[in-house]
Amino acid sequence: MKKGFKVISFLFVAFFVVAFLAACNSSSTGGSSKGVSVGIVLPTKDEPRWVQDEQRFKDALADSEYTTEILFSQGSSAKEKENVETLLNKGIDVLIISPHDGEAAGAAVEAAKKDGVTVIAYDRLITNTDAVDYYVTFDSVAVGAAQAQYLVDNTNGSGVPLYLYAGAASDNNAFLFFEGAWSVLQPKIADGTFKIANSSEATALQDKSELTRDEMSKILGQVTTNWDPNEAINKAQTHLTAAGAEMKGDVAILAPNDGTSRSIADTFAADSEISSYIITGQDAEKASIQYIIDGKQSMTVFKDVRTLVKDAMGMAVEILDGKTPETTGTYDNGEIEVKAKQTDVIVVDQANVKEELIDSEYYEASEFTGL
Ligand code: GAL
Repeated sequence: MKKGFKVISFLFVAFFVVAFLAACNSSSTGGSSKGVSVGIVLPTKDEPRWVQDEQRFKDALADSEYTTEILFSQGSSAKEKENVETLLNKGIDVLIISPHDGEAAGAAVEAAKKDGVTVIAYDRLITNTDAVDYYVTFDSVAVGAAQAQYLVDNTNGSGVPLYLYAGAASDNNAFLFFEGAWSVLQPKIADGTFKIANSSEATALQDKSELTRDEMSKILGQVTTNWDPNEAINKAQTHLTAAGAEMKGDVAILAPNDGTSRSIADTFAADSEISSYIITGQDAEKASIQYIIDGKQSMTVFKDVRTLVKDAMGMAVEILDGKTPETTGTYDNGEIEVKAKQTDVIVVDQANVKEELIDSEYYEASEFTGL
């Protein structure tokens, strides 16, 4: 099934790229340069994940005269709204936006809709508004499930202490990741393979196979990193200080992404009562690829940003051409069902890091040591 989906994804991507390049050519020959056609707003430059996206957008646009502009919101919804207004003033027809805060971004995209702009949510969904037309995303529930499965597959015995960490509650993805992880971890907590080490709310809910959003909010309230590596360190230190000897030794750690994973891993590595740890990640950030090579981070979930960029730009071109973009499903944003195009993810650890990230030309071997 996966293979079939990949072939179809590839065909979609190939189709969009061709369509995109064709549109680039026609807009340059037509000479109708009336400002910016596609505005792109990304959450923050402070995380390598989003700098990666910026670079991949630039790479995809390098050989075209297609008019786009990329602005960063620096973790501020006010700045994000200002960015959208700047782009609206430049006459954009399509807005590609990854919100800092999924709910707060409603006001910005509503302003865009009022201006007749088509809104594409990029990687993160914008919630509780009808002003979002499309959503291009990775399979985020699968990200969390893959992280959890890695912990299950790479720990031994029973009663393994399990430390849970999550993303920012203002990011809808944090819930999707946690939902996916919980679906795999909960049966293994129920059968005694794992014991939760750092969340009384999760322990209170450990017999429930499916959690409501409110229930997940309670757990996130205790174990959120807010996507901030420093907050992750503080939380990990607090948890380790509070943990008794029975919650140390060989442990499993659900870390939501690479930035937080590295800082949590360093914190656990510095605790003399921790004999070994398995820790997850996400994003295939360069620094984490080096950590994986060095055996300091166990895995990452590789989300090929090149595909997401092609999907988003392919969609934008279809819209500019007056066509209806192809979608593969929908996501409920609390107000409407948003038409979505979803991309698969790949689990990477020491065994396949070279094949997936170097041989695929995502990164160059010279960027790492000890490969
Ligand atoms: C999520 C995104 C992840 C990660 C995180 C922190 O929304 O899907 O790839 O980067 O935000 O920025």
